Amino acid sequence: MMVSPETLQIELKETADFLNNLLKGNQVTTAVTLGSGLGDFADDLEDKIEIPYQDIPHFHGTSVVGHAGKLVYGKIKGKVSVLAMQGRIHAYEGHSFSEVVFPTRVLKFLGVKNLILTNASGGMNPKFQAGDLVLIKDHLNLTGNNPLLGKNPDFLGPRFPDMTHTYNPELSEGIRKAAKNISYNLKDGVYVGVLGPSYETPSEIKMYQTLGGDMVGMSTVAEAIAGHHCGLKIAGISCITNMAAGLGTQELDHADIKEEANRVKGTFISLLNETILGLK
Ligand code: HPA
Repeated sequence: MMVSPETLQIELKETADFLNNLLKGNQVTTAVTLGSGLGDFADDLEDKIEIPYQDIPHFHGTSVVGHAGKLVYGKIKGKVSVLAMQGRIHAYEGHSFSEVVFPTRVLKFLGVKNLILTNASGGMNPKFQAGDLVLIKDHLNLTGNNPLLGKNPDFLGPRFPDMTHTYNPELSEGIRKAAKNISYNLKDGVYVGVLGPSYETPSEIKMYQTLGGDMVGMSTVAEAIAGHHCGLKIAGISCITNMAAGLGTQELDHADIKEEANRVKGTFISLLNETILGLK
């Protein structure tokens, strides 16, 4: 459901007030949205405050297997505070894009500056293989949708936001540097965002490759657009959980995808920790 900018502003404020109350004044600069199978980052945090999505006003719970659905505040190595969104909602579950990006906008209201979006994706670049972590340098929004449709919420950002630097160069550089520090060979690529929930046909994958895509997935683009629109610095890390349709030897299965993401969780957590500890 599309709400008016006035109603949206009231809802965001109500949600932020509710969360601020539970977070007891703990200020957070960086937030992370955790993709399929990548939720364990939040479990490792210290001094945690966990808030299930279903308890949060105006949030919608997640229903997909492998998406825990809670907001987790915590500290990395006793030093830096972070907010982790463990699980996200997707348009393929029947949510509008404005519902999908509500949590992203709440982060802005909580005073968050940096948002690292993570996801599981299918690799289309032949240089990629399952298990690779890839920095998202740009995206192709092929969902046929946009979270900014409707009357523009001017209090968040402009009607026609420039998208040249959707994935913030400085924040992305922080991730590259962190990868170097942990001796991880981080690749980069263009993320193709699709609606799903069916996986792609091999012909679609060929088309996306021709268009310049390196990996494909069913999330992230809406949050990146809305986050950039409201002035959050966005970066993205994609976990290649499988080679996309027609490129691998196997048919695609959500259980295998989660399992692959789970296999790289150690490296993924180290990369995020090193990145966030290195941010100013
Ligand atoms: N396609 C779309 N979404 C995905 C894939 C894929 O191959 N793998 C993980 N998420």
